[in-house]
Amino acid sequence: MSTPRYIIDLAALKKNLEILSQVKQLADCNIVLALKGFSLWKTFPLIAEYLDGCCASGLWEAQLSHQEMGKHTLTYSPAYKEAEIKELVEISNHLDFNSPSQWLRFREMVTSHPRFLSGELKCGIRINPEHSTGSTPIYDPCAAGSRLGATAQSLEGVDLTGITGLHFHTLCEQNSDDLETTLEAIDQKFGTLLNRPEITWLNMGGGHWITKPDYDVDRLIRLIQQTRERYNLDQIWLEPGEAIAIHTGVLEASVVDIVENAGQQIAILDVSATCHMPDVLEMPYRPDLFGPDGTLATESGPHLYRLGGPSCLAGDIIGDYTFSKALQIGDTLTFDDMAHYTMVKTTTFNGVPHPAIALKNEDGSLETIREFTYEDFRNRLC
Ligand SMILES: Cc1ncc(COP(=O)(O)O)c(C=O)c1O
Repeated sequence: MSTPRYIIDLAALKKNLEILSQVKQLADCNIVLALKGFSLWKTFPLIAEYLDGCCASGLWEAQLSHQEMGKHTLTYSPAYKEAEIKELVEISNHLDFNSPSQWLRFREMVTSHPRFLSGELKCGIRINPEHSTGSTPIYDPCAAGSRLGATAQSLEGVDLTGITGLHFHTLCEQNSDDLETTLEAIDQKFGTLLNRPEITWLNMGGGHWITKPDYDVDRLIRLIQQTRERYNLDQIWLEPGEAIAIHTGVLEASVVDIVENAGQQIAILDVSATCHMPDVLEMPYRPDLFGPDGTLATESGPHLYRLGGPSCLAGDIIGDYTFSKALQIGDTLTFDDMAHYTMVKTTTFNGVPHPAIALKNEDGSLETIREFTYEDFRNRLC
């Protein structure tokens, strides 16, 4: 078996999609896939059977949504350029602006477009309720000084004619109790705006950990229903990324060498934290890992190894793991939960080869859908 490779499990993906589809039905809301978290478009035909489309962070993701999913495309970017707006008005269903200045700059261009006039394209504004509920600072759009979303104060006196919806995204890997306190903060700061008759939809962003076993789905459904009634809204949208792809993929790696320094055993792998799973360093977190015998590696025990990547970055370290037996060169290690916020973030820094991508079909068969070559590396920069 050749490594490195990502393997995406279609049965696991379907299981998550079934949960989300049930939420859609029970809450009577719309759910789209956040492409920033997972954009393996070969899986879009399956996702399209269950969800309403994609949310895009800018022009390229909007194009991917439009071409490969072909359902709703909800676009939001912290800042658009004029040339991007010209293309986005042709393919987006929602175009959400991050600030009053962006809205006022492009309002005329967007509201005079035939797709806006026909109702096919709607405009929204991302609001910032300034209510932090998360524990990871780099994932907190509500932190003081954040550039993400318009504060209530910044919207005072702004002409919002043409805006028909509001968008917020404040959660990250959170349960519906944090959504509840966020909605209270939104009511205090933006309740009057939401009550305007021209505001007909609300996008509650992502970060809802709906497919985790302990997620309180009933509360989410109740909150969606209450919010719709309170402000007399036509539509509520959710745009999760992680909840769709969580526990649907692994990254297989091989042990390439084993070295020792200051009594520490170090295994050098053909996967890299910085190239293939940068959240391990950025967030940071320690991914679960299955050893060569398929058992879960633990944090302490007799056969302890520090696992590092093949790049020259000293800090390209995935973590310290213990195995039931001593590792050997050529052993296969399997990192769990490597579908979301991994494949979308990879690089070929140091010329480290990009992992192949395989699908695990529902009958258990494996199908390699992409292998990367030196030509891919070479052509990226020129
Ligand atoms: C605006 C917006 N929507 C949706 C998402 C998806 O969030 P998640 O993958 O945590 O569900 C993000 C993630 O950063 C986001 O910034």
